[in-house]
Amino acid sequence: MTQHDAVEVIVAKRDGQELSDSQIDWVIDAYTRGDVADEQMSALAMAILLNGMDRREIARWTGAMIASGERMDFSGLSRPTADKHSTGGVGDKITLPLAPLVAACGVAVPQLSGRGLGHTGGTLDKLEAIPGWRAGLSNEEILDQLESLGAVICAAGDGLAPADKKLYALRDVTGTVEAIPLIASSIMSKKIAEGTGALVLDVKVGTGAFMKDEASARELAETMVALGTDAGVHTVALLTDMSTPLGLTAGNGIEVEESVEVLAGGGPADVVELTLALAREMLAGAGRDDVDPADRLADGSAMDVWRQMIRAQDGDPDADLPAARESHVVEAPSSGVLTRLDAMAVGMAAWRLGAGRARKEDPVQAAAGVRWHARPGDAVTAGQPLFTLLTDEADRFDRALASLEGGYDVEPEGTAYSPRDLVIDRIG
Ligand code: URA
Repeated sequence: MTQHDAVEVIVAKRDGQELSDSQIDWVIDAYTRGDVADEQMSALAMAILLNGMDRREIARWTGAMIASGERMDFSGLSRPTADKHSTGGVGDKITLPLAPLVAACGVAVPQLSGRGLGHTGGTLDKLEAIPGWRAGLSNEEILDQLESLGAVICAAGDGLAPADKKLYALRDVTGTVEAIPLIASSIMSKKIAEGTGALVLDVKVGTGAFMKDEASARELAETMVALGTDAGVHTVALLTDMSTPLGLTAGNGIEVEESVEVLAGGGPADVVELTLALAREMLAGAGRDDVDPADRLADGSAMDVWRQMIRAQDGDPDADLPAARESHVVEAPSSGVLTRLDAMAVGMAAWRLGAGRARKEDPVQAAAGVRWHARPGDAVTAGQPLFTLLTDEADRFDRALASLEGGYDVEPEGTAYSPRDLVIDRIG
């Protein structure tokens, strides 16, 4: 590998130049090995945030991060593979019903997931609310479970894109998370290294999402679709609304409960709609659009796969989920229509109740979170329960209530309310 100098690479990007392939390969490799210091990579990340990277640079950067670790290989499986990645939202429990549903349709789903940071929850945190359930699997266990059950949701091992692990932690503390080239390469390096054949990206737009406006969500989606396509992964993205939280729950155990309702054929309409929309895209990407996932929800086969998946990872699908020690009800202030429910306000409240973590080593509470009893467009009566806040520590209520304040509107009956589309667009 050609040797470069960290300052030369930083200065080039600071001055708005394109980085060469050789500079990119070197800087990622040297940073992973510890030869480029954190302060140098911080400066480079900030220069990238301010000056951007073109498509070639982003593809090379992604390739260098993939090359920093191992790649999984699912080509020996008897069925095609498809995965989904969400850029993160409030009440986003879709992976839980989606993985067993797609598996029940004949496509294997390798969901290598992470834990939550900040106001959006992590899939592993939710599943860890199930007594006994184990997130850590060896590569051999992952392959065995994919072959026998068709779906696995587990922790991504340290071997996949280690450069990203180090860089993401650095970006988190240097104000450089928001750079689109860095987000796109971070997500796609892990998904390409994971080895899925097809990938569906759920790119969230709105107050509760990374991307607050549609234009930047679209740019992120287009960048990621191009990266996946260039790497030979059948990739599409859905832009979906995250101004309102999904379903009726945000937390860990309570989101598992809602997911099981969906697998049982019920559950909130928006969660069902998004689960089916993503399932159809995954099946199409894997060449199985002859199967209708709605049939597999209705006939109970998705639920069967769910129960087997939980058992295979030492969880008990029949066990009671932990109950919160403390609860607090917020009542509707007046009668009328709930016209707004802000995803960020609800996400912050759930986080402050203990459902999420501030630092990556913090524990989360399995039973903490927020239930809301109406969705935008629903009629409400003064004094009816609007939210139930759940936590094991009552002293968390005040701060959670403060984050809900101003996060919803109840307007007089008859106020015009026009629902937003959940799926805003499809890219790919
Ligand atoms: N998720 C990731 O994995 N990486 C980012 O940079 C942002 C979100």
